[in-house]
Amino acid sequence: MNTKPVTELTPNEAAAELEYIATEMAKSDIAYYQQDNPYLTDAEYDSLKKRNEEIEARFPELIRTDSPSKKIGAPLQSGFKKVTHRFPMLSLADVFSIEEAEEFVQGVKRFLNSAADITFMAEPKIDGLSFSARYEKGRFVQGATRGDGVVGEEITENLKTIRNFPQQLNGDYPEILEIRGEVYMKKSDFFALNEKYEAEGKKTFANPRNAAAGSLRQLDAKITAERNLSIFAYTWGEVSERKWDSQADFFNHLKAWGFPINEHNRLCPTLKDIDENFQHLMEIRADLDYDIDGVVYKVNDIKLQERLGFLTRTPRWAVAHKFPAEQAITKIENIRIQVGRTGALTPVADLEPINVGGVIVSHATLHNEDEIKRKDIRIGDSVIIQRAGDVIPQIVQVLLDKRPNDSQEFIFPTTCPICGAHAIREEDEAIRRCTGGLSCPAQAKERIIHFVSKEGFDIAGLGSSIIEDFYNDGILRTPADIFSIERRNTSDDLFAAQQSSVLHLEQREGWGKKSVENLFKAINAKRKISLPRFIYALGIRQVGAATARLLAQNYGTFEHFMTEMKAKETGALVTIDGIGASMATDMVEFFQEEHNLKIIEQLLQEITVEEYHDDSRSDSPLSGKTVVFTGTLEKMTRSEAKALAQKLGAKVAGSVSSKTDYVIVGADAGSKATKAAELGIKILSENDFAQLVG
Ligand code: IVH
Repeated sequence: MNTKPVTELTPNEAAAELEYIATEMAKSDIAYYQQDNPYLTDAEYDSLKKRNEEIEARFPELIRTDSPSKKIGAPLQSGFKKVTHRFPMLSLADVFSIEEAEEFVQGVKRFLNSAADITFMAEPKIDGLSFSARYEKGRFVQGATRGDGVVGEEITENLKTIRNFPQQLNGDYPEILEIRGEVYMKKSDFFALNEKYEAEGKKTFANPRNAAAGSLRQLDAKITAERNLSIFAYTWGEVSERKWDSQADFFNHLKAWGFPINEHNRLCPTLKDIDENFQHLMEIRADLDYDIDGVVYKVNDIKLQERLGFLTRTPRWAVAHKFPAEQAITKIENIRIQVGRTGALTPVADLEPINVGGVIVSHATLHNEDEIKRKDIRIGDSVIIQRAGDVIPQIVQVLLDKRPNDSQEFIFPTTCPICGAHAIREEDEAIRRCTGGLSCPAQAKERIIHFVSKEGFDIAGLGSSIIEDFYNDGILRTPADIFSIERRNTSDDLFAAQQSSVLHLEQREGWGKKSVENLFKAINAKRKISLPRFIYALGIRQVGAATARLLAQNYGTFEHFMTEMKAKETGALVTIDGIGASMATDMVEFFQEEHNLKIIEQLLQEITVEEYHDDSRSDSPLSGKTVVFTGTLEKMTRSEAKALAQKLGAKVAGSVSSKTDYVIVGADAGSKATKAAELGIKILSENDFAQLVG
């Protein structure tokens, strides 16, 4: 480690040292978490960490994407076999207050058009890691982690070491049965483990959840066995035959098969029960021997669950009601600006690190300049911070009576701290944006990172630190460059022309022939891409994965989408349910920018964007049709009808136009029905619609 005071470091020295620290600490993490064999002493580790923070505070523009200050918990391990879940392991939407929980309940009732109360199963939300366990003829055959919900890691041997995990089922079970639940570490086991580690001079775990994660994801199941883990079961995945018709009934089956289930699961027939149960769990929370971070509500009746169905990643029939955020008091050491993919300047507070509910927090978001003014946040202030779940910690309040005399007001920059371009705030906008576009390194890098992200091109071999390095060396400047790297790498002239000092990839530190080949393989595998992924990857402001899918569904081909956007034809856009006027403006603006068009042109020379068609729905009579609902439906609610039509491949529009195929007319329909008649569009009654969709 360099002994020079941080204040005397040159930017070059600082960058080199940050790189050194990141590498050393990553090595140490791997040794610690994965090999259980610490490589640095705690004191060495802590002093590296501190030095890293000091350098980053002085050179915020040099903060690495792989900086140890950004890491929490155990790093991803390679070496596990992958398991593709037969049914994705979904997550739950969160609500944070009784009012929001009630809104969720009302939403369910509205969707089902039910005036009567609906019974919910309320289950403590166990703060551990979810698992899936597959049983064939009652014998446990395969275990997996959730992973990204679609593909997890195989942990069969690890699960077998857990004492209350059944390997052979009792009673009457379906031939194929996949049970899902939570692996956790009891608080008592966690304290015992940490005590032992402390005595042995090993690094301790921050909280039971981290301990459970670090213990379960061990390539060597012997290590898992040494760390007491436990499970609770709470739902199912694939089953050959479902013999239960409610969540309550399912719990009875789980018990009979031999699974541990939580003793505080409660049926709640009314909202009052839901509220009381929540208060009760908050009160007993501290006395439980396991951490819970909220309550999960599930519609008890499975027929109703099926009617409610799913949104993209979460069921409509369940929600997680989180306990209020945990708070702590700490000090603001610095305020700095981060520049995102769309140029947004986001102020971030560097905090004196503090433990908030088991997690060390050293940064908080300040959102935007108005927020800093509104809360009168200054460097040097003592503040109350809070964190809830996985969201970025927030500053709740400044403790004015503790304000030091030398506290400094933060002057929000009007130029981009990364590229120096003007940073402009449009009227009515809270956010100031860098106008540098892709000539701003921060924006350009973030755009490439977004381009290869999971929901975009999903190129796992191109992590953010590699992108950062390649960008800085001029190897990658735009997403289109990704697909020409291999050509440029093999041609001396082309590659050298980028920047004279740049080496061929295989000569770079940390790279070799094999890893370069793997990278090219990963890139080449993505030369054919689905339309929704491509649209998402472009990084148009406000266009997330769900919107990208809607657009793909509506336009069918990229050419069609681009032509309309270039011609500023937004008529079709605003009739798509879920797309508003401001989104439409962002899309049009994106396609007016010369540099965006140039990148797209280059990309299209390298890759093929597939036409959109949804195989599962292509035989449906509604596939590709545009439908409009109007009036009151009787057999199902409007939301239910809309969801059904979308599921069958229809686009649901909000208004009637010449592009509408069907208008479904309920009772008391108004002007939309008249307009449909005028335009000669096919009108369906609710019964016609029901028949059409079977
Ligand atoms: S049900 C489709 N029940 O919470 C529903 N999840 O945010 C799938 N969790 O990934 C989950 N306790 O790890 C369910 N009683 C419970 C739970 C629970 C904890 C976790 C689980 C899941 C996450 C969802």
